[in-house]
Amino acid sequence: ERDLNPNVVWQASKVSREQRPHRGGTLWITGLSGSGKSSVAIELERRLVTQGRPAYLMDGDNLRHGLNSDLGFGDDDRRENIRRTAEVAALFADSGSVAIVSLISPFAAERQRAREIHDERALPFYEIFLDTSLQECERRDPKGLYARARRGEISHFTGIDSPYERPEKPDVVIRPTDGLPAETAAAVLELLGL
Ligand code: PPS
Repeated sequence: ERDLNPNVVWQASKVSREQRPHRGGTLWITGLSGSGKSSVAIELERRLVTQGRPAYLMDGDNLRHGLNSDLGFGDDDRRENIRRTAEVAALFADSGSVAIVSLISPFAAERQRAREIHDERALPFYEIFLDTSLQECERRDPKGLYARARRGEISHFTGIDSPYERPEKPDVVIRPTDGLPAETAAAVLELLGL
């Protein structure tokens, strides 16, 4: 249902996916701010690259400095943030890289759309849920953002005055009791056969 300009024609590549030296895919990490997404994502990237796999970390905070620098934290901007990042992840995955996305991505419909963007191109996509409670995220508050949100200095803060829709059927769930990020990352790669 995408409204494509009829004057824009798809140009097919002459390189098949099988010709590329590596199989790509996307590891999509979702969870509240402070849930531990970035720590696991960093370890996933480090492990894969150490194994000789092309992998690239796309962290929400970092993308908002460049690709997504025009976006804020209202619902529409978050939707666009997720959509745009999913498209870039699919490009990396198609190129044979493992895209590791670390984004709050609070809306179930947009996460589902991110999966479809990959499914339509027969690219592997795994949703990894950092299931850390709001209470625990707020206790950690590594950037002091929850305290600021509670004081009313930041509006539309996820979990405070902006929603987070828990994934219903994530491919992987990580809880705070599961261990250190390095151990968790190793277990995720083992589980997914990567
Ligand atoms: S989203 O919801 O997927 O568009 O968010 P994302 O691009 O991952 O950006 C989340 C990081 O932005 C900082 N930040 C906020 N988060 C949530 N709500 C509000 N209002 C907000 N303002 C700034 C925060 O550092 C998030 O980083 P993480 O790594 O998730 O803690």
